[in-house]
Amino acid sequence: MGHSADKGFFKHKRSWSRRKDQLLKDYLPPYLEKVSHRLKKPIVLVDGFAGPGKFDDGEDGSPLIMYKLMRRKSEQTVPATLLAIEQDPELHARLAKLFDGKPAIEVVHSSFMGQVARLEELAACRTVFLYLDPFAIREYRLADLGRVFSLVQKGHSVEVLINLNLLAFVRLVAKWRSEVDRGHEGIDAEWLTQCAGGDWWKAMADGRSTRDMANEARSGFANTLRQYFNEVCFCDVMASSRHRFPKYTMVFASRSVTALELMNDAMAGANRSLSKHEASADAPLFAHVAETPAVAPTEIIIERLASPQTRKALRRAVMRSQIGNWLAKEINGEIREMLKSGRLRADSGKKTASDETVLSLP
Ligand SMILES: C[S@@+](CC[C@H](N)C(=O)[O-])C[C@H]1O[C@@H](n2cnc3c(N)ncnc32)[C@H](O)[C@@H]1O
Repeated sequence: MGHSADKGFFKHKRSWSRRKDQLLKDYLPPYLEKVSHRLKKPIVLVDGFAGPGKFDDGEDGSPLIMYKLMRRKSEQTVPATLLAIEQDPELHARLAKLFDGKPAIEVVHSSFMGQVARLEELAACRTVFLYLDPFAIREYRLADLGRVFSLVQKGHSVEVLINLNLLAFVRLVAKWRSEVDRGHEGIDAEWLTQCAGGDWWKAMADGRSTRDMANEARSGFANTLRQYFNEVCFCDVMASSRHRFPKYTMVFASRSVTALELMNDAMAGANRSLSKHEASADAPLFAHVAETPAVAPTEIIIERLASPQTRKALRRAVMRSQIGNWLAKEINGEIREMLKSGRLRADSGKKTASDETVLSLP
């Protein structure tokens, strides 16, 4: 395996890894149903950093999770295939064996970036969902992926879910800065620019705290993706409530506002089901996490309603400001309560609202 620290990764699945799986499990079924009915084009799910398919403890890895969801016939009415890419020869062999003889799956022995030209061809004629879960941030380059992402502006459907380790990125930038400050050329500058899809990261490298740099990196990656996608959202996954920084951040990008709603509910579902799981597995660190958030989205609703807008637009604005915190139905529920209590007003004059009702502050 490429990275010695990664050798134990597939021995057993960690709780924070399960959160990624839960996102796939919650998001892919409604996604497959939606795109197969609306777009009517064949679908390709891509697992760009697939691993062996099964952990040593018997738990399904991401390619198997995606494959099982994809093969549930009820989810789609058009052909769907999975392209699983794995660079490590030993893991690729395990993956190929696992899927040997199975239909609608292609297992490729390659680096992920080595398949970008192929992805570009696929995205020009199919609906593509890309799942990128590498060990290290240096394994993908947003600059090159722009070739695939730019097809979105030509009307093609590409969505991407990326595991982004912001802290690892910040550390690389800090290392570059310290080398430059010592009069060296600064290794990795070109590579960092390729990875980040621009050289915006150079501006964040000047004497700031790690937290500030992580926030700037978050905005920088978001801006890079927003060149291609209307909806870009970040969901932090903490390994423990004591930690100051997320273990990793799942970044989702899509052109579709319906996808934003689906992913919001998937993120909320993943956070809550794992909180429950961890609480029940005697993990006191997580036991305090309630099944529904303690704070209702009242303040954000007021903040986002600077000018009148439909309930649908308001709900989406709340989701964009804190993705995965409240389910769509909880935001609608809070809007209903605020209408009843007079803290919101509907243009219809009623105390109830549908998605098209225009809402304002009294
Ligand atoms: C975090 S693991 C993926 C785990 C998998 N998503 C799961 O949940 O079962 C990352 C995988 O990417 C592979 N890998 C590393 N560099 C790669 C590259 N450049 N291209 C494709 N695969 C790579 C590693 O060998 C490893 O199996």
